[in-house]
Amino acid sequence: MKVFYFTGSGNSLSVAKQLSEEVINIATCAQGEYSDDSIGIVFPVYCYDIPFIVRDFLTSTKLNAPYIWAVGTCGSSVGYSFYTIDALLRKQGRKLSYSKKIVLPDSCIAFKTPSPAKEKMLDAEKDTVASFKSDVIAKKPNALFKDKLFRINRIAWWAIKTFFGSKHKRVTDACNGCGICQKICPTNNITLEGKPAFGDNCEYCFGCIQWCPQRAIVFGKLSIDDSSKYTHPSLKASEMITRNKK
Ligand SMILES: Cc1cc2nc3c(=O)[nH]c(=O)nc-3n(C[C@H](O)[C@H](O)[C@H](O)COP(=O)(O)O)c2cc1C
Ligand code: SF4
Ligand code: SF4
Repeated sequence: MKVFYFTGSGNSLSVAKQLSEEVINIATCAQGEYSDDSIGIVFPVYCYDIPFIVRDFLTSTKLNAPYIWAVGTCGSSVGYSFYTIDALLRKQGRKLSYSKKIVLPDSCIAFKTPSPAKEKMLDAEKDTVASFKSDVIAKKPNALFKDKLFRINRIAWWAIKTFFGSKHKRVTDACNGCGICQKICPTNNITLEGKPAFGDNCEYCFGCIQWCPQRAIVFGKLSIDDSSKYTHPSLKASEMITRNKK
């Protein structure tokens, strides 16, 4: 069973690793065609939908499997994500057979998950994933699910790109030039010229800001603090770097 994933703070990678030993990074995998009897996609929900990079992957890569499933990791709501995936798969003559959301701490520092809720979500993760895994191993189908009736996706993206675009990303004097952000960025959007510089190929995964050991990255007016700092506790920066290497 192949599982494709994209991740910023590590939630989707943690879930993908529990579901299969064959996890493939959407940010680094070759385009083309993949075949298996079961293929999964694990992704973080962005603005009630799938990340652009996952959309591009499903447009450019053919998935040959009779059973295709998806998990959206999110802070609360998957919105239209599964409908988008199903529509893209249908263009390939496939469909989304099974889908589920898993609520985990929020990677976006604008929406902090309070500490007791964080622990509760992480405590529930293992059992939730295990029950999901037994469903996909049995190749159970389920109905497509959406959990917001209104579509604010475009407004939310407009706000993110306006306030967190490359012009608005910067580092403070706390930056020591260690290069972790550059190596961890899944889209190679960061160059290191003494200090990091940000390009325009950003997926807004918040990985750089969350994994920076000095908490030195600022997006617009947002800087990280104890309550917004979050990376999945099962993962280390070194693993993220290795997995994001092209
Ligand atoms: C730009 C951005 C937009 C997000 N939008 C949503 C959203 O619409 N709904 C939601 O429940 N969580 C949202 N989140 C939270 C993430 O989906 C959630 O924290 C996810 O598990 C992060 O996965 P990762 O650790 O694999 O990157 C958003 C996070 C980011 C960075
Ligand atoms: S990870 Fe943080 S400290 Fe290291 S280079 Fe990037 S911004 Fe600077
Ligand atoms: S620049 Fe930061 S937020 Fe943008 S894709 Fe790279 S790691 Fe993610």
